[in-house]
Parts: sequence; structure tokens; C-alpha cells
Amino acid sequence: MSLTKVDPQIAGIILDEERRQCNSINLIASENYSSKAVLEAQGSVLTNKYAEGYPGKRYYGGCKYADQVEELALHRAKELFGAEYANVQPSSGSTANMAAYMTLIDYGDTILSMALDQGGHLTHGSPISFSGKLYRPVFYGIDRETGQIDYDEVEKIAIKNMPKLLVVGSSSYPRILDYQRFRQIADRVNARLLVDMAHEAGLIAARVHPSPVPYADIATATTHKSLRGPRGGLILCRATYSASINRSVFPGLQGGPQMHAIAAKAVAFHEAKQPQFIACQRATLENAKVLADGLLAGGIQLVTGGTDNHRLLIDLTPTGITGKIAESALGEVNITVNKNAIPFDSRPPGLTSGIRLGTSALTTRGFGTEEMAKIAHLIVRVLSHIGDEKVYQEVRLEVEEMNSRFPTPGITQ
Ligand SMILES: Cc1ncc(COP(=O)(O)O)c(C=O)c1O
Repeated sequence: MSLTKVDPQIAGIILDEERRQCNSINLIASENYSSKAVLEAQGSVLTNKYAEGYPGKRYYGGCKYADQVEELALHRAKELFGAEYANVQPSSGSTANMAAYMTLIDYGDTILSMALDQGGHLTHGSPISFSGKLYRPVFYGIDRETGQIDYDEVEKIAIKNMPKLLVVGSSSYPRILDYQRFRQIADRVNARLLVDMAHEAGLIAARVHPSPVPYADIATATTHKSLRGPRGGLILCRATYSASINRSVFPGLQGGPQMHAIAAKAVAFHEAKQPQFIACQRATLENAKVLADGLLAGGIQLVTGGTDNHRLLIDLTPTGITGKIAESALGEVNITVNKNAIPFDSRPPGLTSGIRLGTSALTTRGFGTEEMAKIAHLIVRVLSHIGDEKVYQEVRLEVEEMNSRFPTPGITQ
């Protein structure tokens, strides 16, 4: 029986969410639209199957097709990223990172990573995450003047603290990370290198962004951001870590792998090899630059003054409004963003002085540079007319017009 018949309440809410996704300009940097094919694999009968273990070595019978799915996902992941070894079982980016720590270091060891309030991620040593409780974090940040990472400074902090692990990766840093330089720093202090490429995975797969795979001991990713797959995690590593990374994921952290999600990851890896995906990732970068230029031209301040990837971080300090107010005002006109701390933010995380934008999701829908220039203009209008319902209504109409021209993959195509 169909969902509508069995549970009309949930079916109705899902329909509302579909409408919301089609009717809003989604600038959340960590989101995207999975294809119908990815959604189909994720909604498949593989959700019924228990397959604890790995292909050929399962703790359950009936795993013939689960093995085929996982083998294919592994093969495609390795080929896509040029990695020696892969693990596709992590349920999220956070558990992928946990498994990497468990493989590379011992509890109590020192890790050196980018501070959360400077652009890092919770799982990179924040005191409220397992990573800050189980390990001894020390942090690097960005240079106050340039807004960018000062690699010589990172090296100095590394020499002073002699970490066992250098963690690289960020949720909001809008510039290219110099993986080779990070490797040099790690080698200098005899540390291992973990690169969390959760955000950049799609750009890296399309080879429009440098890859950390040749430099990192382990690279982790999420499959649902720029990579456009199902919600989940991915681990890539050197062959020497194969046995220990597998043990860290299962039985270290998880029980049965989500075979439906692994099938959907395999589909996403296949899609990521196609010319359309590569063109879309290239367009994502162009769109980010046009959006940045439009905002700068409208007097908006950006952390680092621009972007090299799909993300932009607006510094609202000169406008006097908080990230919370900006998020809510843009939400009123169906432009979806998230409030985000800026480096050296004087406001608490619930308010913030910034908003983060990303162009992955809109580019997947087919929005181009012309639309980005228009969206920049609309954002500037809203931020300079907070609370002005007349302006909001005008902007809403423009948003509606753009949304009507671009189908939402997986929903309206
Ligand atoms: C850099 C980075 N790493 C890890 C994660 C965690 O991913 P998940 O939400 O799947 O646990 C995120 C999520 O936003 C992220 O930005």
C-alpha cells in the first residue's frame, strides 16, 4: 500500500517539504538535490537486509546482493577519487571522522585542527564533541588581516605542540586548502594527516578542485553535500590502513551497514563520473564567484574578500544586524541560508555575525551566472530593508519567477 494510504499525515508533510524545496532558493552550503536514481536506490528493499561485516565476510546469510552492491560502491569510490582503499559504510561524516581517529591515534593523543569558531567542524576537537573529550585538541585559525590560513603559523603551532594528528578541513572556509603544505607540516612533526573533505568532495571528484587523496593518510567525506548522493559518510585511505579502518567502522562504531544508503552512494559515484556532473561542479565555482562579486558590488563584506570554492561567508558586522536576523529575513522571502559564526565573532553561536552561502544546490537545479547576479542583488535588497514588507513582497515575486523556471532534480523532473 502506498504511503499516502498508510500514513497520510507523514505523506502530507513530505509533500509540503517537496513544495518547500521547489519554492525556495537554497543557498545552504551543505545541501544539494539527489537525483531520482539516488532516491530510488535509497528507498529500495536493501533497507531490509542485515549485512554486518564486509563483502565475502558477513555475519548473516543472504548477502549475495548486498556484497555485489558494496563491491560496486567500493570500486567506484576508489576509481572516482584515485584512492588505494575505501570504506563506504559510515552512516555520516561524523562517524567517518570517528573511525579515522580510532585508526590513526590513541585516546588522549594531541590533535591539531582548525578551531570551530574559525571555520572548523565540531568533530575536529570541539569540547562538546567526542573529538574534544577523547583527544587533546590544539587549534589553528586564520590570520586576522587576510582571513586566510597562515601556514607558517600552523607550522609553528605544530612544532610547539607536537600533535600525533593534523586535521584539515572546514565547514565555512571559502578558500582552497593547501593539502601539500599541510602534509609538509605533518611530516615535520611526524604527525599523521587526516583531511575531512566533506564539503569539497563533489568538486574534488570532478577534478575542479585539488585533491587531498595523494597527501592524506586518511580522507573522509560526506556523500550528501557537493557530491549530491544520499546522506552518509565515506572514507578513503592508503592500503596500509585497510584492515584497521574496516575494524574501526565495524565492529568499532557501527553494526549493520545501511545497504540501501550504500547502493545510493554507488549510484552517486557513477553519476559523478558523467560529463554533466563535471560541468555542474565547474558551474558551481563560477556561480560562487558571480554571487561573491554581486554581493561585494552591493557593499556586502565577505570573509577573505571572496571565494575559491562553492562557499561564501558574509560578514554582517558593518550592517549591524546579526546572522540570526539575516537568516530569518531571507527566509521570509524564500531564500534559505544559515547563520554562521565569522572568525573572531563577538556574538554567540545562536546569534552570530555572519551567514554562510553555497552554490552547489542551486547549480544542480540549473541556476546560472545570470540568476546568481540577480540573487546577489535580492540579498542586498533584503539585508538593507530589514522588516520592510513591501520590499519583501517584491523580492518574493522575483524568487517565485526564478523557481518556476528551474525544476528540482528528484522532485519535478
Ligand atoms: C567539514 C565537515 N565534516 C564533517 C561533517 C559532518 O557530517 P555529518 O553531518 O554527516 O555527520 C560536516 C557537516 O556539516 C562538515 O561540514
